[in-house]
Amino acid sequence: MKNNATGDMSRRQFIRTAAVGTAAASIGPGILRAQEDKRPLKAGLIGCGGRGSGAARDLLSADPAVQFIAIADLFEDKFGRTLDGLKKRGAATDDILQFVGFDAYEKVLDTDVDIVLMATPPHFRPAQFAAAVDAGKHVFMEKPVAVDPVGARMIMDAGEEAKKKGLSVVAGTQRRHEHPYVETQKRVADGMIGEIVAMRCYWCGNPVRFNPREPGWSDMEFQMRSWFNFLWLSGDHIVEQHVHNIDVCDWFFGAHPVKALGMGARVRRQVGDIYDFFAVDYEYANGVHCESMCRQIVDCARNVSEHLVGTKGWTNCKGEIRDLNGEMLWRYEGPKTPPAKTQEHIDLLKSIRTGEPLNEAQNVAESTLTAIMGRTSAYTGKLVTWDDMMESDMRLGPTEYGLGDVPIDPTQLPGKPWPENV
Ligand SMILES: NC(=O)c1ccc[n+]([C@@H]2O[C@H](COP(=O)([O-])OP(=O)(O)OC[C@H]3O[C@@H](n4cnc5c(N)ncnc54)[C@H](O)[C@@H]3O)[C@@H](O)[C@H]2O)c1
Repeated sequence: MKNNATGDMSRRQFIRTAAVGTAAASIGPGILRAQEDKRPLKAGLIGCGGRGSGAARDLLSADPAVQFIAIADLFEDKFGRTLDGLKKRGAATDDILQFVGFDAYEKVLDTDVDIVLMATPPHFRPAQFAAAVDAGKHVFMEKPVAVDPVGARMIMDAGEEAKKKGLSVVAGTQRRHEHPYVETQKRVADGMIGEIVAMRCYWCGNPVRFNPREPGWSDMEFQMRSWFNFLWLSGDHIVEQHVHNIDVCDWFFGAHPVKALGMGARVRRQVGDIYDFFAVDYEYANGVHCESMCRQIVDCARNVSEHLVGTKGWTNCKGEIRDLNGEMLWRYEGPKTPPAKTQEHIDLLKSIRTGEPLNEAQNVAESTLTAIMGRTSAYTGKLVTWDDMMESDMRLGPTEYGLGDVPIDPTQLPGKPWPENV
């Protein structure tokens, strides 16, 4: 995609409801350490849509004393619901800093927030995460964390920097914090199903969301408000949504795949430039394959799940392990609460407070890149290797942003037309 964003920066606004003492050019990174400092955490939120508000609620369920001092979004109209929710919980005051625009995240990072929650469309995550690490902030970032190989590698690099700085980083691949998954993974790692010989995973359901274009919206505003449907913003649904299930396979197997052969198409969707379905054959080390399937078409069979087969048994990854005859070997009977999306914040806060940083940047970057590898194979029709992805200079979308026009890429078709002369 060409960078033809018009730089319509006059629409970018900087709203500051009050000049509170937290504004922070003067405040250094000062990473919060628990034993030294029991004060309530100060949080910032970047991306005040559905998940951003949800992540803020989840953080407050994990620690009701957290205070939100700064929020950011591209659009001012996104603040209302988030602010109401925060104020109702006593987690924000009228002095909360509110920043609007593509560079609003930088202003949140300039305050003395200890922790920042990131829930914009994934296209923006690599630059925002790198800047947060640079600013010395602990991070919760939603999945996926990139839409292209360049972005995924930026996350890996920034994750390494975060390690050096002792920062905690938790990603929104919440199954890694969900008790039945965690307990099943431990047993698979301990050999309960023997050697893993095959895996499969699915996210088959409906399309996520589409906001019809309103008069006065530029191309960019339309794409931003319906971002799930655009490749450069969402990474396509294999990346945006199916990454959850792919992440489980990478996690349980203990490594990312080495190659992918995928296919897919667009047959029903009438907006945007992404596919309706993908089927990818991932090959992991030792010749183990994972069959991955995802579809977003209304009124079709649904399935969101992961399954592993080993030499001694098999598992649904979320609380059941059976032998090869189907007899139950183990079933998770422990607590199912707190919910995974709260537990991930409990784990994040614990890691900050104990000074033993949890850092999930590499894991989520690898799962994201696994999904991008499958997508790339489906789009091109070629076998794609992990090394291809680690060397690829593919970078989607503009490099400078404004609310002007941006073209919609034509949908990518693999192979060549056949027959050619009809
Ligand atoms: N873990 C989960 O189960 C889960 C569930 C839903 C969504 N998500 C992820 O959360 C993220 C957000 O999804 P959502 O459903 O909240 O979408 P959303 O559209 O409701 O919210 C995104 C918000 O980001 C804002 N935004 C866009 N670009 C921005 C920028 N450059 N700077 C600041 N703000 C910007 C938008 O205006 C919008 O308010 C996505 O990565 C999505 O995949 C994860």
